[in-house]
Amino acid sequence: PPLDTLLNLDDIEAAAKTQISKKCWAYYFSASDDLLSKTLNNTAYRSILLRPRVFVDVTRADTRTSLLSGALQLATPLYVSPAAMARLAHPDGEAGIARGVARFGALQIVSHNASMTPEQIVADAAPGQVFGWQLYVQTNRAKSEAMLARINRLRDRYKFVVLTLDAPVPSKREHDERAGIEARMVLEGSKPPGDLAGAGKSNNARPDADSGVGKQLFFGTAADLTWETTLPWLAAHTDLPIVLKGIQTHEDAYLAARWARAHPGSIRALILSNHGGRSLDTAPPAVHTLLEIRKYCPEVFDAVELWVDGGIRRGTDVVKALCLGAKAVGVGRAALWGLGAGGWRGVDRTFESESHPIPTARARARVCARIPSGWMRPG
Ligand code: FNR
Repeated sequence: PPLDTLLNLDDIEAAAKTQISKKCWAYYFSASDDLLSKTLNNTAYRSILLRPRVFVDVTRADTRTSLLSGALQLATPLYVSPAAMARLAHPDGEAGIARGVARFGALQIVSHNASMTPEQIVADAAPGQVFGWQLYVQTNRAKSEAMLARINRLRDRYKFVVLTLDAPVPSKREHDERAGIEARMVLEGSKPPGDLAGAGKSNNARPDADSGVGKQLFFGTAADLTWETTLPWLAAHTDLPIVLKGIQTHEDAYLAARWARAHPGSIRALILSNHGGRSLDTAPPAVHTLLEIRKYCPEVFDAVELWVDGGIRRGTDVVKALCLGAKAVGVGRAALWGLGAGGWRGVDRTFESESHPIPTARARARVCARIPSGWMRPG
């Protein structure tokens, strides 16, 4: 269907389903086990209500924000979360996502398992367009170090490194596994960067031809990360700001804030995320973790920025997260569905379709979210 007939993310997701292969759909749609976390990611926002105030001049409301202590000036707090293998959906791939969000000035975090090289993705980016790079630490640390060196050289575009922590072992994604994909078949025609291209040659076990895409991408990922060993190692290999992704409890947010205070300039933001429900099923939605932090350790907000992702389907979801204290809000599948529905133009349409309520966020001093009883009310 013509893109201008797609009015919201449901329409865009349905259109993508008709355009992309069954295997691609299964990989993007899938989440672990019973999809409890994936489902709750969105229903959590539905249980939060906005409390709109009147007699507020919103003629000049705008969406501008700054992230990483002012280092990034952005036109919108809505950003693209790192998601692997965009070229499964459309040849425009990750560069198409960049082109699609350019008009909105949105930040894009590029996945470690992107289907294009970091250089290709930024080659035709708009002036001033900025990116983050997401890292899965490899058991073969030299590979990760080489990748970090490459990103350091592209620092006019890649402004920070996101370390994903919520997926230390492969999860059980049954939609993906049922699709029975052999990664090398679906990779045909795309040129993945370093690790992915060499998945079959990594120092880990060879990919199992019968497993889904997720498991095949997983080979080589380290499971032995710790506060004491990983963060100093990372800081020794990049001086870009570090963002930790996959924080799911107030306890870990507290530890991260403590680390950030003890090591100024290291961790600058946390992404509260359960990986779109794709890692440990029954893990809480990011917005619950945000509420937990407000309740049990609000001092975390002073030490690090809190970004959230998972289950964002409406501009109002974005506003709710901002009202509750998130500095930035990410979408994973939404960008992929847009790409599947119509290449870079589909991504543009996705951002356009849900952008209209976001300016309300500017008036957030006057709008606050009503949260389910049991949680502390926003201040
Ligand atoms: C992801 N996600 C992800 N995260 C990450 O840190 N590295 C990665 O390579 C990927 N890959 C990936 C692939 C696909 C197909 C999806 C859907 C997701 C998780 C992603 O960054 C984000 O946390 C979720 O997608 C957010 O949830 P929604 O917006 O998809 O509901």
